[in-house]
Amino acid sequence: MTIIKDIENILKQGGIKEAKAEAKLIVEIASGLKIEEILFGKIQNEDKIYEIARIRTNTKHPIQYILGFSYFMGEKYIVNENVLIPRDETEILVRNSYELLKERKNKIDVLEIGIGSGCISCELAKKLKDKDIEILGVDISSDALSTALDNISNQNLIRKIIVRKSDIYSKIRENEKFDLIVSNPPYIPKKEKENLEDEVKKEPDIALFSEDDEGISFYQKIIQDAPKYLKKDGFIAFELGINQSGKVKSLLEENFIDIKITKDLQNIERTITARLNSR
Ligand SMILES: C[S@@+](CC[C@H](N)C(=O)[O-])C[C@H]1O[C@@H](n2cnc3c(N)ncnc32)[C@H](O)[C@@H]1O
Repeated sequence: MTIIKDIENILKQGGIKEAKAEAKLIVEIASGLKIEEILFGKIQNEDKIYEIARIRTNTKHPIQYILGFSYFMGEKYIVNENVLIPRDETEILVRNSYELLKERKNKIDVLEIGIGSGCISCELAKKLKDKDIEILGVDISSDALSTALDNISNQNLIRKIIVRKSDIYSKIRENEKFDLIVSNPPYIPKKEKENLEDEVKKEPDIALFSEDDEGISFYQKIIQDAPKYLKKDGFIAFELGINQSGKVKSLLEENFIDIKITKDLQNIERTITARLNSR
């Protein structure tokens, strides 16, 4: 039996759902070897491998926090308990944002509200690498901002992305105007906390929960003042929680047009984008 299978069994017995995928990740990372080498019987750092598996099953901490990083759109991101672990479906928001901006000829200014690890801003900046683009990423958490900065600098994006501590728009000046406001805001209603998986409960409350029962308070606040901070024909783009598209759409209808909703691979309406009605 390979060490991967052994670790998979340990994780399974410890109640870890994605035991197979996590076992492969743990062995690859802790050994520092390529998967082909491991499958041919090469192995090193066995103590470390078993120690990580033990921490994972005992603490139920997400494997990404234990390892200190996660992957998003093929890129390695530093993560820790101060930031949300990037989710695969958030790639849709990056792609939608790119589509909205790719034809812009002049300098592009983007505001990301709730930058977290920085995964959205970094991937968007890279997709628009040939453009003159400046992204301002804000977050209410100084610790999240510090992690975002580490990722921004690891990816050599410090000339394109700046960060600022701000409670939504509180530190955005009236004369700052953007082509796009993008956000994956906290959208889980607080009352649903008890139903979440153990791993998700280890992520920061501030990144997950909205105080209201529908999970739409951040959308409300962001949409309400967005016209003040958008350039003429500016766009807004959000990731959505389950069953939130209808409510967010009606909030947008007052000042926005060209509202588009995109589904994810599970057929869930996952993003919404719209253009400011500049009239
Ligand atoms: C769902 S996470 C998204 C993180 C990252 N953008 C991503 O997609 O992986 C929401 C982020 O919003 C931040 N946040 C929460 N309340 C905020 C507020 N009032 N103003 C600004 N950011 C806030 C959290 O700290 C967290 O980083």
